[in-house]
Amino acid sequence: MSDTLSTTAPQAGSPLVSVRGLSKHYGGERRLLGGSAPLLKAVNDVSFEIAPGETLGLVGESGSGKSTTGRILLQLETPTAGNIAFRGQDITGLSKHALKPYRRDMQIIFQDPYASLSPRMQVGEFVGEPFDVHGLSGSRSERQDRVASLFRKVGLDPSFMKRYPHEFSGGQRQRVNIARAIALNPAFIVADEPITALDVSIQAQIVNLFQDLQDELGLTYLFIAHDLSMIRYLCHRVAVMLRGRIVEIGPCEAIFDNPQHAYTRALLSAIPVPDPDIERSRRPLSFDVNANLPSEEAVLRPVGDRHFVLEG
Ligand SMILES: Nc1ncnc2c1ncn2[C@@H]1O[C@H](COP(=O)(O)OP(=O)(O)O)[C@@H](O)[C@H]1O
Ligand SMILES: [Mg+2]
Repeated sequence: MSDTLSTTAPQAGSPLVSVRGLSKHYGGERRLLGGSAPLLKAVNDVSFEIAPGETLGLVGESGSGKSTTGRILLQLETPTAGNIAFRGQDITGLSKHALKPYRRDMQIIFQDPYASLSPRMQVGEFVGEPFDVHGLSGSRSERQDRVASLFRKVGLDPSFMKRYPHEFSGGQRQRVNIARAIALNPAFIVADEPITALDVSIQAQIVNLFQDLQDELGLTYLFIAHDLSMIRYLCHRVAVMLRGRIVEIGPCEAIFDNPQHAYTRALLSAIPVPDPDIERSRRPLSFDVNANLPSEEAVLRPVGDRHFVLEG
């Protein structure tokens, strides 16, 4: 893992993914006997862009709306309001049929590497399944070769193809999921807390793999995490989410070296420091979410180069 910040964020040209005014509300339906179910604004007026080859980190506590944002981006869920554009095309609310060409290009990787695998399917079959779904399998031996090459790309020995998920460690299982996600040469991957369930020692290896694959394949990532600890090594920019809103977004170095929002500062203060002397004196800042909820009128204001913070 490189210990320098990723400072050269790709910016040229138009964004690969852009979302404008995205909201997802749950509840609020009128009840038969009057009144309405409580309204939850899981995602509330979120806008951002991701450039080709860029990694945007999306960070915030559990329940802040990160997964919902990721699922809406891939059109696995429909937004209450707002638009999603992919390669400049508005894909909001497209039919299943119209979405099909985009499905190959946009993939998702989940937190629990075991849950996504089929326990009774050899992992080689699992990794090659997208070829079958899209009619790209070719002959038996072509398929084997392509799966073997995917295994090598994610650092797994191709001889493991015939094994079952329970024969793998957590990190290896996540490698299997990543192999499947890149099978169809996608442009964009939503990685929804892909390292959260892994041992800390394994987390860095998987972060390295994401980085290597980005360099090799030119992938663009939305990388979701509930804390900032690994984000520094992987992301070009970071968006911090709180109760459905982005409270701060900016280049990685601005977020880490010049955080503006109290919530970002609290998240930063929670990262353990490898040096035991510093770690002993580290004081996590507390942040009372309920006392500091952004108002509905709050807007993102520029505070630096491509660096915005929610005010109000
Ligand atoms: N299908 C759903 N129905 C009702 N509420 C939901 C649904 N999905 C998510 N939520 C709520 O939306 C909020 C955001 O959830 P989520 O996007 O999963 O957050 P995160 O990924 O940041 O933990 C949470 O309060 C969650 O309980
Ligand atoms: Mg989540």
